[in-house]
Amino acid sequence: MSDLIERAADILAKAKYTVALTGAGISVESGIPPFRGKGGLWEKIDPMKYAHIDAFLEDPETVWDVLIKNMKMVLDKARPNPAHTSLVDLERLGLLKTVITQNVDGLHQVAGNQDVIEFHGNFAWQRCQTCDQVIATADVDLTHIPPHCSCGGILRPDCIFFGEMIPPEALHRSQQVSAACDVMLVIGTSAMVQPAATMPFIAKDNGAVVVEINPEPTPLTNHISNLPLLGDAGTVLPRLVAAVEQRRDAS
Ligand code: OAD
Repeated sequence: MSDLIERAADILAKAKYTVALTGAGISVESGIPPFRGKGGLWEKIDPMKYAHIDAFLEDPETVWDVLIKNMKMVLDKARPNPAHTSLVDLERLGLLKTVITQNVDGLHQVAGNQDVIEFHGNFAWQRCQTCDQVIATADVDLTHIPPHCSCGGILRPDCIFFGEMIPPEALHRSQQVSAACDVMLVIGTSAMVQPAATMPFIAKDNGAVVVEINPEPTPLTNHISNLPLLGDAGTVLPRLVAAVEQRRDAS
């Protein structure tokens, strides 16, 4: 492992344009459970029953009760962990240009990253189904479920449900930066959900080195990742950043 981290640091320290693609795993050490695998949310609830747009349109009260209220409780308490702050360090070193995240927890922005593409939206906001007004989740009155907008419409998180389109601008920019980068860090994603999982392929096809950080192998590990760093993001990323800083100091 140490050897792989040193090799990844050699490449990162010389890179001109690094992009990170992150998934639920980067926020596990902030207390947010992942979707798949051990302790994953989809082990407890069926996403087609509670996280699909058709389920929400049919029965918003149940989806608020089973999924959204609980997400709010978990996300309210979550704070950035050392993996998030390491990505801020990489940005301050002038190496990391953009974070593409599938997460809706907003923790990259709280940590301090400046350019974050929110592929699946952001839970910090609720949008009215009827008039499209956007309201901070913190200001939503949860005494009545589902909560309503002042116009009478039902509020929904400003995130993507299954069965919905990725915001076109987020998709377009993600494809652009993936094609432009010379290093892609793929952190804490099972790489099972499209189209986000295509980004490492775009990066690799355009000549980038793919560095994957995940305690478990994924479909990318043996095919796309040049350097699979097997471990928790909160441990591996600070070590990687320290190794990059050493190289910067020495040059
Ligand atoms: P998943 O839950 O599918 O995968 C989480 C990944 O994080 C797994 O590969 C774990 O091995 C890894 N992991 C767990 N702990 C980790 C740690 N401490 N450090 C690093 N990695 C760790 O999450 P995503 O790939 O983000 O979409 O899922 C993609 C999308 O599927 C989500 O955005 C969500 C979900 O359905 C929507 O809700 C639309």
